[in-house]
Amino acid sequence: MKKLFIAICAMFMATSCCNNNPSQGCDKECCEQECNPVIETIMSRRSIRKYKDDVVPRELLDKIVECGIHAPNGMNAQQWEVRIVDNPEWLKSVTEAQVKAAAGTPMEKMFADPDMKNAFRNAPAVIFIGHKPGMCTQIDCGLMAGNMTLAAKSLGLGSVCMMGPLVFFSKPEGKPYLEQLGFSEGYELLLCVGVGYADEEPEARPRNKEVIKYVE
Ligand SMILES: Cc1cc2nc3c(=O)[nH]c(=O)nc-3n(C[C@H](O)[C@H](O)[C@H](O)COP(=O)(O)O)c2cc1C
Repeated sequence: MKKLFIAICAMFMATSCCNNNPSQGCDKECCEQECNPVIETIMSRRSIRKYKDDVVPRELLDKIVECGIHAPNGMNAQQWEVRIVDNPEWLKSVTEAQVKAAAGTPMEKMFADPDMKNAFRNAPAVIFIGHKPGMCTQIDCGLMAGNMTLAAKSLGLGSVCMMGPLVFFSKPEGKPYLEQLGFSEGYELLLCVGVGYADEEPEARPRNKEVIKYVE
């Protein structure tokens, strides 16, 4: 009886969804969006700006940055560096310095949210990406960040790419923090990726499919 039940389940699984390989001629929509874990991850990723306080295990951060450095990059030159900060005191300190620097300026209202935990969209871990400016390096770092956000999603974590909070690091008040990140000579901070356990489930932001055209 048990064997029969298992056989029926197996038959149901085989017929209710595709064979997980669209190239083999599957015409079911689930194959594209549900059964394929890569596509599912891409389509369900959202920028997360509310996080639980839970600490992100370093093994997961390690895996995320490892996925990052496996991104395609021009001539495999790898003109990038990565710094990971999961020290809440450091994130608090740089946030307080940003709030202080913004006081009395138009930036002040950005920090008026009483629920703000830190200046990095509240993420408990922040991955800073620097590049040695060159022809492809900004693109390379964007691809790296893309890999990181998808890796984070696939590991059950939320993430958000950010450039806004980095403006501060180019100001005199931000210089000590930039130095603490310790990028090598000739490298510039370009973007960062906040990572943590999501405390929100935002809707997908609309995408304009009109921008896509086949050229016959
Ligand atoms: C290069 C780059 C810079 C970004 N900078 C910020 C930022 O400073 N603050 C922020 O909240 N989101 C930032 N974002 C996230 C975008 O706002 C977000 O990706 C976009 O609205 C689409 O939403 P989605 O990621 O949920 O699909 C940035 C994204 C990228 C790729």
